[in-house]
Amino acid sequence: MNQNDMKKAAAEKALEFIQPDTIVGVGTGSTVNYFIDALAQIKNRIRGAVSSSEQSSQRLKDHGIEVFDLNSIDDLDVYIDGADEITQYMAMIKGGGAALTREKIVAAVAKKFICIADDSKQVDVLGNFPLPVEVIPMARSYVARELVKLGGDPECRQGVITDNGNVILDVYNLHILDPKALETKINALVGVVTNGLFALRGADILVLGTATDVKVIK
Ligand code: A5P
Repeated sequence: MNQNDMKKAAAEKALEFIQPDTIVGVGTGSTVNYFIDALAQIKNRIRGAVSSSEQSSQRLKDHGIEVFDLNSIDDLDVYIDGADEITQYMAMIKGGGAALTREKIVAAVAKKFICIADDSKQVDVLGNFPLPVEVIPMARSYVARELVKLGGDPECRQGVITDNGNVILDVYNLHILDPKALETKINALVGVVTNGLFALRGADILVLGTATDVKVIK
């Protein structure tokens, strides 16, 4: 299997975690796109979806899947999303698609976070993938200076404005040994909306596409 086959296989396997008549939390990215396409095959068995981005909402609607406003939902059984990196402790870097804030919000509401990924996403230590930080535009330079003090090399992602109207700083050269502590520290900087570390609320289950099969890791 090539990387896309692995993503697709993991995405299709994740359908097993969906209960009938529920609303499904849906993330963002190329792996999730495969999941949305698979979800369309069982759309008559679910109530609909809550989405973490305009891009995923559009794809869901194109498949005829109803997209609910998160504010109209009391609880969410599962949230299914990809990752840019994931450790054996289920801490992740996310936000390669710039949807990290809405992803974190939907993940916070969901009872279970199910990460779908190909095995290139598994790492021992987070940080090889630049850490995305969503920032209020007027705070960009201030936050960048503070991120340098934390040991990173921030770069503003060119040509990208998030669904929330903010900018993304991608922080290079971090070797993240304590993801929970760094997640807390960066989120405490004034002007930061959120950062792409998902460690305080990591994944509960990893559905991992490998060259030979799909593994479910709990
Ligand atoms: C989107 O903002 C990200 O958090 C994605 O979940 C992450 O980038 C994984 O994307 P792929 O499935 O495209 O690798």
